[in-house]
Amino acid sequence: MSFEPKILGFLCNWCSYAGADLAGVSRVQYPPNIRVIRVMCSGRVDPAFIFKGFEVGADGVIVMGCHIGDCHYLEGNYEAEKKFAMVQKFLKLIGMDNRIRLEWVSASEGARYGAVVTEFTEHIKSLGPAPTGSDNPDQTMLTKLKAIKVAASGERMRELVGRQRKITEEENVYGEKTDMETFLKIFNSAIVEEFERAQILISLGEDRKSVKALAVELQIDPSIVLGHMTILKARGQVDFGEIVGITPMFQRI
Ligand code: FES
Repeated sequence: MSFEPKILGFLCNWCSYAGADLAGVSRVQYPPNIRVIRVMCSGRVDPAFIFKGFEVGADGVIVMGCHIGDCHYLEGNYEAEKKFAMVQKFLKLIGMDNRIRLEWVSASEGARYGAVVTEFTEHIKSLGPAPTGSDNPDQTMLTKLKAIKVAASGERMRELVGRQRKITEEENVYGEKTDMETFLKIFNSAIVEEFERAQILISLGEDRKSVKALAVELQIDPSIVLGHMTILKARGQVDFGEIVGITPMFQRI
């Protein structure tokens, strides 16, 4: 039996959803694999929506909004672009970044809507089922996906995405401006660090574990795990549970 991917589409109300409507009334042909969720603006698509989509079985996720400059909330699609870039970087860590797409489709582009959906469906077909999406999902991948969702929803990533423009375009109180190259360096390390920290939190669950045990389990250098523990403790997310011998055991708070 040929593989029929499950595609989840988030369409902004004012442009892409109307474009999809036009495709329908104009009888534009496109594959029936897409399931559409209407949102008021592409900027409304929280990264967690995309991760959740994969968690519940999507093989591919597409976000569509008004063309740049046409957003009905002025800058919603700029926000969508920034969030999408973050989602892509996170998914790259688990090799699933080629399963998402961001496209601009206006209300008058019914034919384009059909073409985009057709092309994306074919692309996902060529990749095969998502490791998280088949009837028998890869549990390790699902845990990693969950970690990504936790990491992307954390305060640090939300701040970095939300304040990117302010940070790179305006001076701080000391009259300093952060250039884009420096910002991206910070952003890219934050992606990896927050992913590792979220993996630690998920692994701890209800258990108590040592730095060494976590390092072996997650295949992260022990000195890096120790650094993460210091941060997680300062954030009030972990604490010492007990000392076994001379080894401190950490637990989630
Ligand atoms: S209203 Fe369509 S992208 Fe914002």
